[in-house]
Amino acid sequence: MSLVLCNYCGEYGMTDAAEALSSGESALDVLEAGIAPCEANSDIDIVGKGRWPNALGVMQTDAGVMDGATLQVGSVGAVENITHVFSLARLVQSKLPHVCLVGEGAKRFALEMGFTEEAEMVSELGKQDYQNWLRENNVDLSQLSKYLWPKDKDTYSFHKDTVIYLALDARGNLAAGTSTTGWPFKYPGRLGDSPICGAGFYADNRYGACACTNTGEMTIRASTARSVVLYMKKGASVREACLEAAEDLNDLQGGYLGSVSIHAIDPKGDYFVLMTEDSEQDFCIFEEGNPAFRREEVFLVPKYSAT
Ligand code: GLY
Repeated sequence: MSLVLCNYCGEYGMTDAAEALSSGESALDVLEAGIAPCEANSDIDIVGKGRWPNALGVMQTDAGVMDGATLQVGSVGAVENITHVFSLARLVQSKLPHVCLVGEGAKRFALEMGFTEEAEMVSELGKQDYQNWLRENNVDLSQLSKYLWPKDKDTYSFHKDTVIYLALDARGNLAAGTSTTGWPFKYPGRLGDSPICGAGFYADNRYGACACTNTGEMTIRASTARSVVLYMKKGASVREACLEAAEDLNDLQGGYLGSVSIHAIDPKGDYFVLMTEDSEQDFCIFEEGNPAFRREEVFLVPKYSAT
């Protein structure tokens, strides 16, 4: 059973992704069909052209892709003025001997590959949010680190989200993909889990594919995406593997602890999505043969204790 699954932020691209899957395109192409429209739509806050820049008011985006057939990976981080960073990550994977490019090097590679340099990545709403953030916190731009550690999580209410897509194509190939603008007002140069293979995404045709959203600092520490696939390798079902990885996250001590969403599929077409804190999030799933994609609710696991 071939399928494509995305988190709620990816819904805008799901019709295109479902069409690509039904036309017999590869799992990697299905991911790109879903993610690219989200990146180009500045009404989607947390990906590509979007809403929340870093602490200097500059949009820096991250993306990653893994091909479950070959275990090849491409990723980019802290890229400025390029919209389609997921496509760029794919080109890192297919054109270079490297796995990850960041910052100026990633942008240079994008321009060499014929990508357009965008003059503006931050929406008007995002510019207002940024000015409000500067004003409300009396931000001194020479001391950014003072403003980035949320003492009370409720005061840091902006989403820390990502578009994630997972696909299983008709040939049995699995793939995982991510694209994000990362935390709003993050420290310049900060990478989350979205460009980190094993943390934010992982795919292996033999066992399964996984992608994570929200607090990337945690999934990097727990190697969450790789762990989920490894638990499946050791015999866990998709659901059991995700719950086991959530336990690993729960065991983290200190540092910034927030919510994490884990999305996973296996080679048989089973899937499971959980979130570690209460929230009203859905995800979208399209299984080949159905007329359209549908929304389902994520499974909520008990809240983490605060730091
Ligand atoms: N998971 C998105 C981020 O931490 O940037």
